[in-house]
Amino acid sequence: MLASGSGSNLQAILDHFAALGPSAPGEVVLVVSDRAGAGALDRARHAGIATAHLAAREPQRLLPVLREAGVTHVVLAGYLRLIPADVVAAFHGRLVNIHPALLPAFGGPGMYGHHVHEAVVRAGVTTTGATVHFVDERYDEGAVIAQWAIPVHPTDDADAVAARVLAVEHQLYPRCVAALCEGSVRLEHGQVVVAPLLPFERFVPADVPPPHSV
Ligand code: GRF
Repeated sequence: MLASGSGSNLQAILDHFAALGPSAPGEVVLVVSDRAGAGALDRARHAGIATAHLAAREPQRLLPVLREAGVTHVVLAGYLRLIPADVVAAFHGRLVNIHPALLPAFGGPGMYGHHVHEAVVRAGVTTTGATVHFVDERYDEGAVIAQWAIPVHPTDDADAVAARVLAVEHQLYPRCVAALCEGSVRLEHGQVVVAPLLPFERFVPADVPPPHSV
């Protein structure tokens, strides 16, 4: 996992895989951050997972670090650095990201973290969401695996939207990562192949509409 922030998505994935027990389709073997003080690194250490701190000036170290740890899939969760082209190529179809909006809306340069939710509130839209997508050579436009629409209420500020979206991310992302690891979500010729449909129905919180799998 690659994370720059608090690591709540990392935690959700760890908790989900722990709950699956022996039937978990994989394990988190390494957490990499560009920020030495990232909460994600603390969470990893607490869970007994290897960590690595990679300063922004040394992107060429990322691929060797991943290879040395025996990583098979790369999961980005709030990682703020550009992924080097060699890593994108080496993990084609095995590199995913979560974005806190319904891509392509509210995506692109400068659209990360709180900026996304502030833009959503400013735009006055009534729906936002979370998007899980492959990261490929087109980077910001990688094929979408799943999107989950989330209401924006007229009284919401960016914090309220962020909290609602994050709660959905914690449901959506672990299940997408598990599906990827077990091979039921794949990237073939630039298209996402999902088989069978992801079993989200069981996890839909009461006030949130169900996700759309693509
Ligand atoms: C999430 O909202 C994710 O969508 C975005 O960054 C945030 C990371 O949060 N890319 P956390 O570090 O997992 O708590």
